[in-house]
Amino acid sequence: MTQFPNISFPTSRPRRLRDKNFIRRLVRESSLSVEDLIAPIFLLPGKNKRMPVESMPGVDRLSIDLAKKHALHLHELGIPAIALFPVLPNELKTPDGSEAYNKKGLIQLAIEEIKSTVPDLGVISDVALDPYTTHGHDGVLDSSGAVINDETVQILVKQSISLAIAGVDVVAPSDMMDGRVGAIRKALDAKGYQNVKILAYSAKYASAFYGPFRDAIGSAGTLMKGDKRSYQMDPGNSDEALREAGLDIAEGADMIMVKPGMPYLDVLQRIKAEFSVPTFAYQVSGEYSMIQAAVERGWLDQKSAATESLLAFKRAGADGILTYFAPMIAESLKEK
Ligand code: PBG
Repeated sequence: MTQFPNISFPTSRPRRLRDKNFIRRLVRESSLSVEDLIAPIFLLPGKNKRMPVESMPGVDRLSIDLAKKHALHLHELGIPAIALFPVLPNELKTPDGSEAYNKKGLIQLAIEEIKSTVPDLGVISDVALDPYTTHGHDGVLDSSGAVINDETVQILVKQSISLAIAGVDVVAPSDMMDGRVGAIRKALDAKGYQNVKILAYSAKYASAFYGPFRDAIGSAGTLMKGDKRSYQMDPGNSDEALREAGLDIAEGADMIMVKPGMPYLDVLQRIKAEFSVPTFAYQVSGEYSMIQAAVERGWLDQKSAATESLLAFKRAGADGILTYFAPMIAESLKEK
């Protein structure tokens, strides 16, 4: 525990260190920089297509050609990495999500094109089946609607390999199946992809805050049967998050993600303190939409609310933040 010096008012006046901007800057413990940002991109098939996500004002789904331009812009802003999410037409969805490992699939093509245009921009891709399954779950279902773990892991391995072949820098399993990190690491290594990094969503909660994302990728309408609570974590737990992170690190995860973000800062702090590995937070769609909805009503100031929310992640120990505010914040950091 911190030892507090035994001094009291009026000798000690904490406000002395708050009265001028220079001193506030000098004593600030955490800061936000463009180096901390990961920008998500929603991808559409086709050309020259831009479709706003209604529940996420300011976020558009983009076809690959426009995504490439956007990626270049993000790179020029100094953002180190992007995270890609596909929006698939229903006819490409199947019960087993096999489109996930199509070598010419939307994500695979997007990775190839973006890496050839902006090679220095890190590309992160989700490993999970929900954008690809007719039922919207992250894995395959048995006849009772339960997600089958080990069979799903085999498909996730195929998905990871196809992303690696396309040139992805980081695979990010967000599916919450048991044992998937080890299986993916082993398969990547066997195929010569030792340098593809694994960002494991170790602590991914069954959260209500993913609603707008499911609108964005079109998995909300399909989520009828089954229950994500049978694989995503219970919001009441945090010891369990440490066990999950410990397993993923032991299986070969290079970095850990906590998701959602702001409601789970305690989990982020515990994981960072316990394991000292690069730990990231995902400020998810619902967190973004809450702020944007209030901004639209004139109830919050966008720049200061978004900046404060991201700084809070840094204070809690995050090494970086995946956030839909990334382009806006990068612009505002540049102005400063
Ligand atoms: C699923 C996935 C989800 C998000 C990203 N990947 C949520 C889900 O379980 O439906 C949500 C991200 C967000 O809300 O911004 N693999």
